[in-house]
Amino acid sequence: MSNVKFYYGGNVPLEMHKVRIVQKLNLVSIERRLEAIKEAGNNTFLLKNRDVFMDMLTDSGVNAMSDKQLAAMMEADDSYAGSETFTKLENKITEIFGKKYFLPAHQGRACENILSQAFVKQGSVIPMNYHFTTSKAHVYLNGGTVEEIIIDEGLNITSEYPFKGNMNVEKLKALITKHGAEKIAFVRLEAGTNLIGGQPFSLQNMKEVHTVCKDFDIMLILDASLLADNLHFIKTREEVCKNMSIREITRAMADLSDVIYFSARKLGCARGGGICTNDKAVYLKLRELVTLYEGFLTYGGMSVREMEAIVVGLDETMDENMINQGPQFIEYMVNELKKHGVPVVTPAGGLGCHINAMEFLSHVPQSQYPAGALASALYLVSGVRGMERGTVSEQRDENGNETFSNMELLRLAMPRRVFTLSQVNYAIDRIRWLYENRKLVGGLTFVEEPPILRFFFGKLATASDWQTELVAKFKADFGDNL
Ligand code: F0G
Repeated sequence: MSNVKFYYGGNVPLEMHKVRIVQKLNLVSIERRLEAIKEAGNNTFLLKNRDVFMDMLTDSGVNAMSDKQLAAMMEADDSYAGSETFTKLENKITEIFGKKYFLPAHQGRACENILSQAFVKQGSVIPMNYHFTTSKAHVYLNGGTVEEIIIDEGLNITSEYPFKGNMNVEKLKALITKHGAEKIAFVRLEAGTNLIGGQPFSLQNMKEVHTVCKDFDIMLILDASLLADNLHFIKTREEVCKNMSIREITRAMADLSDVIYFSARKLGCARGGGICTNDKAVYLKLRELVTLYEGFLTYGGMSVREMEAIVVGLDETMDENMINQGPQFIEYMVNELKKHGVPVVTPAGGLGCHINAMEFLSHVPQSQYPAGALASALYLVSGVRGMERGTVSEQRDENGNETFSNMELLRLAMPRRVFTLSQVNYAIDRIRWLYENRKLVGGLTFVEEPPILRFFFGKLATASDWQTELVAKFKADFGDNL
């Protein structure tokens, strides 16, 4: 909502778009939901869309597209080499980020593969404000290690601190001194830090990180996948930036970065990805890998239609009234839940609303995956599909022991411009009911546990028959209603 004030009070987020194409949703009965979650092994990744009412699994590739994006897709220029569509995208990247060289890739992790293969060597150390699953995996695949140097406040679940995604600059200096600058392949800053609740870093922090990188001649790489949310927070929370336009803030961030990469499944509301830089030597090094893994340099694994949509999507990201939609809906949801005592990550970040499962289900031990249990329980009582972001998303150590995660979160992603306020209110209602009945929810144990990325395909069973009890309580309270 830009500066809209509700005259009679009760301000709520206001949609700055209208809906012209809709997709019908199903809200299946709780009996079917019980079957469905059992079939899925209590893993929300394995649910079928037909059984899901609100899909809050992710914002990746499922943001609403605009009429202008759809229109642009109709005039894509398809060719293996030299397509006009590529030139348009390259020009848009140069216009927005001020970078001369653009390398396309099919999605964010493909960029991470290319960057890691090009720069990470055996023994390399990569400082990050925080890791993302795929960014870390690619560093390790190439023999490097990741050092997370988020500020202490970043891991504080309930906080008022506006920039929990900031990097600890003193720790960065200490790390470089400890290992020697030649061991640091690059420093990675992640906008809208995903795994700690979509938390932003400030422009000031980025400047400080940049200065350290320059002093030691180390490359600074920006993961801009969640840039849109971070831009909104810099504009609204960083006093000195409040009079800057979104374009100016974007350019300031880009000027501090040697390389920028992004998942266009998030940034630009389409499907694809890319890397940009002004450094010709870097560009040439990456170019070989793009053609090897992604495709020729003028499509890089993307469909030209998606590339057209990204051109328009990036342009629309420079519009404050577009990028504020996600954060404002999330803030509404977080504040409503907080008001009713439900433990949530604060301050509200981007990407989604994050529920603190460790506190919500404080009676469920971490070894029985509270965030996974909460994801399963919420689906059962509402048809809302969230994503476990806790110990199930970690991997066992080399001795087969569990690696308990710092936080046990249930992420309820808010795909941009997809849900209406009444749908968000429905989710809030069911979460509140579940919170009141939380003692009925028990833990989970693995019955099928793949050795890598177990959160995608693993299956779990309930540690007791708690789901039957939860269904019985639901029926007692809701009768025959859904
Ligand atoms: N970086 C960040 C910060 C991300 O959030 C993601 C994806 C990636 C890189 C990888 O991009 O999926 O296009 O390969 N995040 C998705 C999510 C998967 O659901 O949060 P990708």
